[in-house]
Amino acid sequence: MSPRSDHRVRSDSPPTAAGEAVPGQPGQAGDDRLAFWARQAERLHWDTEWTTVLDWSDAPFARWFVGGRLNVAYNCVDRHVEAGHGDQVAFHWEGEPGDTRTITYADLRREVCKTANALLSLGLTAGDRVAIQLPMIPEAVFAMLACARLGLPHSVVFGGFSPAALQSRIEDAEARLLITSDGQYRRGRAEPMKAGTDEATRNTPCVEHVLVVRRTGIDVPWTDGRDLWWHELVDAQSDQHTPEDFDAEHPLFILYTSGTTGRPKGILHTSGGYLTQAAYTHGTVFGLDPEADVYWCTADIGWITGHSYIVYGPLANRTTSVMYEGTPNTPHEGRHFEIIEKYGVTVYYTAPTLIRTFMKWGEDVPARYDLSSIGVLGSVGEPINPEAWRWYRKHIGGDRAPVVDTWWQTETGTIMIAPLPGGPAAKPGSAQTPLPGISAKVVDDQGRQVGKGESGYLVLDQPWPSMLRGVWGDDDRYRETYWSRFAAQGHYFAGDGARYDEDGDIWLLGRVDDVMNVSGHRISTAEVESALVSHPAVAEAAVVGASDATTGQAIVAFVILRGGTVWSAGDVSGALREHVAQEIGPIAKPRQIMVVPELPKTRSGKIMRRLLRDVAENREVGDVTTLADASVMDLINAGLADGS
Ligand code: WTA
Repeated sequence: MSPRSDHRVRSDSPPTAAGEAVPGQPGQAGDDRLAFWARQAERLHWDTEWTTVLDWSDAPFARWFVGGRLNVAYNCVDRHVEAGHGDQVAFHWEGEPGDTRTITYADLRREVCKTANALLSLGLTAGDRVAIQLPMIPEAVFAMLACARLGLPHSVVFGGFSPAALQSRIEDAEARLLITSDGQYRRGRAEPMKAGTDEATRNTPCVEHVLVVRRTGIDVPWTDGRDLWWHELVDAQSDQHTPEDFDAEHPLFILYTSGTTGRPKGILHTSGGYLTQAAYTHGTVFGLDPEADVYWCTADIGWITGHSYIVYGPLANRTTSVMYEGTPNTPHEGRHFEIIEKYGVTVYYTAPTLIRTFMKWGEDVPARYDLSSIGVLGSVGEPINPEAWRWYRKHIGGDRAPVVDTWWQTETGTIMIAPLPGGPAAKPGSAQTPLPGISAKVVDDQGRQVGKGESGYLVLDQPWPSMLRGVWGDDDRYRETYWSRFAAQGHYFAGDGARYDEDGDIWLLGRVDDVMNVSGHRISTAEVESALVSHPAVAEAAVVGASDATTGQAIVAFVILRGGTVWSAGDVSGALREHVAQEIGPIAKPRQIMVVPELPKTRSGKIMRRLLRDVAENREVGDVTTLADASVMDLINAGLADGS
């Protein structure tokens, strides 16, 4: 063990209850950081206590709670049942067509045990990877927890991703099992899912079995021997299973996210540190009281928010949650508010893009429902504009409920920067301060902290328990992406711009790299560009994120067509948008496709996206002096003006 890591901390004090006030000023945990995290780890049940809180000797590869052993699923389920809370509701699940399921902690334990026994019957052993593409149904949670219980790292792939995107994720993780469903309800229709996953697994020999949940009853293609129905395999299993304990650093899941290149990165999270920080942040940021609160996070489990704040954090804290399957306007625009009223939701956690959609639908929609149960509102995914923040607080929060704007990333695993309820007055649009135990700074190009009123890059200058442990199968990419920019200082580079205000509070300013944020979803410009150039009609493509009133950013693509392609602008646009949806998924469809004769490039051949963003946002084009050919912008503008 390194000399820096022999900080043996194990206090004898009783576990900190979820929601209890934490000592110290936000962000001031300082020298006591490790002792602070040691106390937070006592929120969990450890089969073997750790000997060292943090081993950072092999930085940037961290090991937290070294020597500790635990079972994540036991912590999320069994221990609550054993403590006499088996009858407490874990999930009020609401299906899009209006069917419902109430799942208590005792039910959850039975379902997770049966699922775990089913996975064992398929010969899976600790360390094997399982891919999951499912709609927002309870089986998604059972599947994730069954994997956690058996030490099988899961890779959940958002249901809206295309077969090609699923295939590349299955291949990268070499998953042995895929869990999916026959179909999913989307806007009142049953849409196929298994048909798409079959396309994804056609060329992935690593997948030995496909376990299929029957959700919609639609017909599915079937491969005998490989495909298995959930209701046949899982339902026949014993509901008893004794959990085994795993090392604190045992991989819990891989979650793919967009980076600055076309290839998504498999972000790796492990067990003890991740669950500690998920439980701590969920308990503290939302002031969660397991006896009183009804909590609803509207994310999809295919994203990190769903992992940390639908599954792991809330269940570790014995939360009663709402889980909703469908779209917010099915069958009507008041669906979310109807659900809040029905279950008496006290904590509601969503994304600015949905808040802006609610604003568009009008304040008279929420006004028709009793939302007086709401006590805390959360926001995540992108900077929340002050107007949306105020509307959210007024029309959903009855002008009483605090709004907590939470900044974090797939890579950070859990919330890092957020105002604490009951803290100093909230500022619309500011995530404000790093949580106790977390250290974040805004620095300049040289890694020097900037002053009040100044902006720069957001960095995390101390390791944290739920930090990513790497990029699956690619240590170099991990070092290069996150740790090379401020290598001299040893800072983690988040990829976000940020500013201190006069009080020293942090305001997030959006990405500083080539990652777009569309409706809170991360999509890289390179990913969309490579999808576009894979179309036979496209010679070259450049993609930018242009500001959009509802989705935050929208994808605008500039394409040069191959010589000899004779298409009308309308046909090209329709075909290319569809092509991108097929290659990546509908979330990556460009809002606009502009056919151009040239792209603005520097002398070294780098596309100047800044200038294209000016065009996409209808601004006067900025400084063109670094262009290899300054007349290109005139050419582009002239072409667009006459609509060719
Ligand atoms: C952005 C989602 C400002 C940011 C949890 C980050 C935010 C990226 C906020 C991560 C926020 C997320 N204020 N920006 N409250 N929350 N972001 O990995 O650019 O899907 O780097 O994780 O979303 O997106 P990801």
